[in-house]
Amino acid sequence: MAHFEDATNEYSTVHSSDESEVLKKLRRATWLGTTKPQMLSDPIQGRFLAMVSGLVQPKRILEFGTFTGYSTICLAEGLAEGGTIDTLEINDELEHIQDQYWEMAGLKNVTRHIGHAHKTIASGVLEGPYDLIWIDADKEHQISYVDFAVKNLRIGGCLMVDNVIWGGAVLDKEKLAKPTSGGSRIHRLNKHIANHPQLENVLIPVWDGIQVARKIS
Ligand SMILES: C[S@@+](CC[C@H](N)C(=O)[O-])C[C@H]1O[C@@H](n2cnc3c(N)ncnc32)[C@H](O)[C@@H]1O
Repeated sequence: MAHFEDATNEYSTVHSSDESEVLKKLRRATWLGTTKPQMLSDPIQGRFLAMVSGLVQPKRILEFGTFTGYSTICLAEGLAEGGTIDTLEINDELEHIQDQYWEMAGLKNVTRHIGHAHKTIASGVLEGPYDLIWIDADKEHQISYVDFAVKNLRIGGCLMVDNVIWGGAVLDKEKLAKPTSGGSRIHRLNKHIANHPQLENVLIPVWDGIQVARKIS
């Protein structure tokens, strides 16, 4: 059992809206057809993304880490009429799953950018302003993705970053003493977001922790 698969998470999930039938089928297809299905968002996390997106009603969303397209569908639930999503993914072997379930969910305006997110950013194809940015990929470079996000969000736009509790490692003094550990890296990321002069943020301890930030200047 992962640290976040606890009674609180179970209670919260049972007392939250359920994921759609399409998302249930995609969850099953991801577990049956991919080598790292544990990367998939948990139902409560997906409902949280859909809730925030529904409140923001974004015209433009940017996603780092498509995987099988689950969080893309959740984020798209809140899109404004005619809104679009750019999604970044390094693995080009998942497109058949994404295409199948995006079609089932009625997603039309998704642009997939295959390749290392760093290279996609450097190529200049992604131009702000975005209304909502979700970072769920490549933990090593997340501070640079946050900085890109802040530059490319509109004022008042929303940034969310996943796995910021890192399985409890950000609370583990031994892990934090090692600057190269995953826990240390995520701890630096959390400090970077909390101290960023252009952001106000709340670290929400849902699932493995999600940073939710608003660009204020
Ligand atoms: C945790 S999964 C994303 C899960 C997805 N957001 C969801 O909720 O179901 C992370 C994804 O990021 C991709 N990824 C890892 N490093 C990347 C990079 N440097 N650039 C783009 N994508 C990357 C992985 O291939 C993987 O599919």
